[in-house]
Amino acid sequence: MESPDGQQKEVTARKGPADDAVSLRVSDVRKQYGSLERPLIVLRGISFELQAGQSLAITGPSGSGKSTLLHLIGTLDLPTSGSILISGKNPATLAEKELAQFRNRVIGFVFQGHHLLPQYSVLENVLIPTLASRQGGEGAKSRARELLDRVGLADRLDHRPAELSGGECQRVAVARALANSPSLLLCDEPTGNLDGATADSVASLLFDLHRAEPTILIAVTHSPQFAGRFDCRLELREGLCFEA
Ligand SMILES: Nc1ncnc2c1ncn2[C@@H]1O[C@H](COP(=O)(O)OP(=O)(O)OP(=O)(O)O)[C@@H](O)[C@H]1O
Ligand SMILES: [Mg+2]
Repeated sequence: MESPDGQQKEVTARKGPADDAVSLRVSDVRKQYGSLERPLIVLRGISFELQAGQSLAITGPSGSGKSTLLHLIGTLDLPTSGSILISGKNPATLAEKELAQFRNRVIGFVFQGHHLLPQYSVLENVLIPTLASRQGGEGAKSRARELLDRVGLADRLDHRPAELSGGECQRVAVARALANSPSLLLCDEPTGNLDGATADSVASLLFDLHRAEPTILIAVTHSPQFAGRFDCRLELREGLCFEA
């Protein structure tokens, strides 16, 4: 991570990680879209490290590459150069099937915009990641119900996304991301569409879960108040990251 004076700094862990705890190392990550003739360079060399138990807020203006960086960390896209190691493993080296299993087991993603499946109920949407990991069954169902209770939607289990407000859909998306107990939780503006009180309750849910289990929590946000609750803050500007 680069400080405002341009020095590279390592983020120090606040809680001691267990032997098998998750870690994240982002090294000189660059991302370029477009063609060779007309490249759009979005990330110009991003480096930082996080250990289990740490939380990071990513801020920066619209179009600065926040979602791009989150997608790269979430193994949904590949960097143009540089590397991302999750618990010492480079997911870019995995075959497609292994990568899908790794992503499903380790990573929870709350997308910008909730991406719920409209044909399924609230409960079924939350259960989808558990089906792919074959962790289905009554245990998964009771965790999904508990998570939906915690986001205040216990009485909406059978509703379809079209029957919910934008904020309610966002809360379902948070519950879905947590369904497999991920050790790396990535949230792209998880409180973006929510009113103040609902945003606070979703934020508290994320931090409660983060405290309860030795996970890494990373969230993109435009809210200085939300960003202020994280251990570390990183601002993206002109393709580089700065401690904020
Ligand atoms: N798949 C893509 N192909 C080409 N350009 C893209 C692609 N995805 C993103 N971009 C461009 O990369 C830049 C960064 O986009 P990104 O979505 O990461 O920004 P952001 O910081 O998340 O913005 P916002 O705060 O508006 O969500 C933008 O200029 C965007 O148009
Ligand atoms: Mg974005």
